[in-house]
Amino acid sequence: MHRFSRYFRTKPVKDPLGEKLPHRLKRVLGVPDLVALGLGAIIGTGIFVLSGVAASRYAGPGVTISFIAAGITSALAALVYAELAAMFPAAGSAYTYTYASLGEIVAWLIGWNLILEYTVAMAAVALGWSSYLLDLLRPLGVHLPGAITASPLGGGVINLPPLIIIGLIAYLVAAGTKESSRVNKIVVALKVAAILLFLALGISRFDPANWRPFLPFGPAGIVRGAGIIFFAYIGFDAVATAAEEVRRPQRDLPLGILGALVISTLLYLGVAAVLTGMVKYTALDIPSPVATALILRGFPWAAAVVSVGALAGLTSVLLVNCFAQSRILFAMSRDGMLPEIFSRLHPRLQTPVFGILTIAIVAAALSSLLPIHTIAELANIGTLSAFATVSIGVVILRYTRPDLHRPFRVPLMPLLPLLSFAASLYLMANLPAFTWYRFAAWVALGLVIYFLYGSRHSAAAEDRAVLKGRLLPEPAAKRGPKS
Ligand code: ALA
Repeated sequence: MHRFSRYFRTKPVKDPLGEKLPHRLKRVLGVPDLVALGLGAIIGTGIFVLSGVAASRYAGPGVTISFIAAGITSALAALVYAELAAMFPAAGSAYTYTYASLGEIVAWLIGWNLILEYTVAMAAVALGWSSYLLDLLRPLGVHLPGAITASPLGGGVINLPPLIIIGLIAYLVAAGTKESSRVNKIVVALKVAAILLFLALGISRFDPANWRPFLPFGPAGIVRGAGIIFFAYIGFDAVATAAEEVRRPQRDLPLGILGALVISTLLYLGVAAVLTGMVKYTALDIPSPVATALILRGFPWAAAVVSVGALAGLTSVLLVNCFAQSRILFAMSRDGMLPEIFSRLHPRLQTPVFGILTIAIVAAALSSLLPIHTIAELANIGTLSAFATVSIGVVILRYTRPDLHRPFRVPLMPLLPLLSFAASLYLMANLPAFTWYRFAAWVALGLVIYFLYGSRHSAAAEDRAVLKGRLLPEPAAKRGPKS
């Protein structure tokens, strides 16, 4: 193989169900588990925190339309994910699909950018979780000292709450799939109940005067709002990363992905409309807009209940993000793109413990170094880049591999995937310049690591025997059979 073309080698789809893989995860999940997994990943900071920021700063009551715009972008990508996930139900999601369609170097970059989506977002959500916890403890008279609730950069000694929650989450994910899925379902029930309570009470305080003017920042505000609100939809793709643990992946994955997205979109539209109808958008530039609106409209008890639900919601976002990230690292390692230890399963727990530990350490370090909004913007651009790439990948695969069995097909091919590509790029283009600089630096770092490690150790190097000794060093560890 030509030295250059090996960077674009694709991973042959010989074993789409992953049945011959050396390291296999247990198949224990069904549709309700997947929908819960999706809702667990999706509903969090976006609705409980960013809805207020986007309304007050960018879109006014028109934030409801921002939610629709970001929701359409996500729905288009979700259709693409549904086709690919049912076709290749292997852990690794967008990374795996790209490897099969666009080639190794693009796949590496997608896997690398998914770290922005999952681990980096975990750091931001852990910080949000910590603020909600402090908010809840304050009225109870519990005041944690500043030394243990702020990072050294923020004037404290150590910010303990985010570290504790990240540690706890890592423990749960390491403890095993069925266990983390069970905890996730309880938490999801709590946060959905909190949202339904908010809707039931808030609608009785809806004042149409708050919707005038509907677009105080003009139509451009809708798009700016959507660029931020997109964060609220991040996570449905996490369902696809559980593919190898699903009992009937080809049927259940599309149902799980689309089901979770439809339910969360309906809840979001309700919350956005009711929230901006309850109080003037100018009053919403606060960390807990949903709870504050309830207090302002005479339901302080409900505000406390909803805050508990929000705390639970943020917990499940952390849980699913950690789960999804560990599966992506697992898949990348199995392909030789990362060291073998990331795909080694713990003998008793049967989970990739080393990867989970690494994620926890990185997320904890980030949460004590970076501000929350910086992290959220990076997560958005990383996720949108994955959506855009996967949308092109699904079209390419229809032409290059028409033979593959597709239990779910994106309708109106190639129109919808191309629309998905355009919508993702459009939202990316509306993100601040600084986010783009950071993203470029991240991609550059990823390329360096790929050339120094991934391209040399890739298990897809079918010509390794020829290249060995000339271009490539000896692989560090003996790998399993090629997949
Ligand atoms: N969608 C997730 C949230 O809003 C990341 O927290």
